[in-house]
Amino acid sequence: MKNYGEIKNLPFKELNGISQKTIDIHWGKLYQGYVKKWQEIQEKLENIDLSSANATFSEVRELKVEQTFAANAVLLHEAYFDILGGEGKESGKVIEAIAKDYNSFENWLAHFKALGLTARGWVVLAYDFNDGKLRNYIADAHNLYGIWGAAPIVVLDVYEHAYFIDFGSDRKSYIEAYFKNLNWEAIDKKYNKIARS
Ligand SMILES: [Fe+2]
Repeated sequence: MKNYGEIKNLPFKELNGISQKTIDIHWGKLYQGYVKKWQEIQEKLENIDLSSANATFSEVRELKVEQTFAANAVLLHEAYFDILGGEGKESGKVIEAIAKDYNSFENWLAHFKALGLTARGWVVLAYDFNDGKLRNYIADAHNLYGIWGAAPIVVLDVYEHAYFIDFGSDRKSYIEAYFKNLNWEAIDKKYNKIARS
């Protein structure tokens, strides 16, 4: 099990259509920056003066809010990078499970891609432990609109830093490139581990 404060290595050397420059900035600077900030917040919380606790403003309140921002940034970026480096070939039980919960795989794909154009941060296909279903969610920031008890399976970063260098404002082409780089074996492995737990 990995700690939030540890940097997780990339599972690939390069991607098709998504440049090394984008990866260097995205994984090398931004993701690692979130890991460091999580550590910083954790250290501050360990030495916090609790006597100033207040719901309008207090250091402890601010740290607890930003802890969710940093933690979700770490989790979502790791989930995003973990499933890249493949050739986009759909395989595994996860495909059947998606098709079951969305009537067809194609229907899920249409929903997921459309959500990629609506979200301001993330699109997440999650396994929802609350009812055992796979469901797409969006997030406009790392810590907005997540459901407690839902585990990310397929994660798409649609922040501009993920694609602007390579695609400009053409987010649609970035989403197509993302699907061409998906590692469905890794996704299936993750799905089976989560759904069986
Ligand atoms: Fe990102």
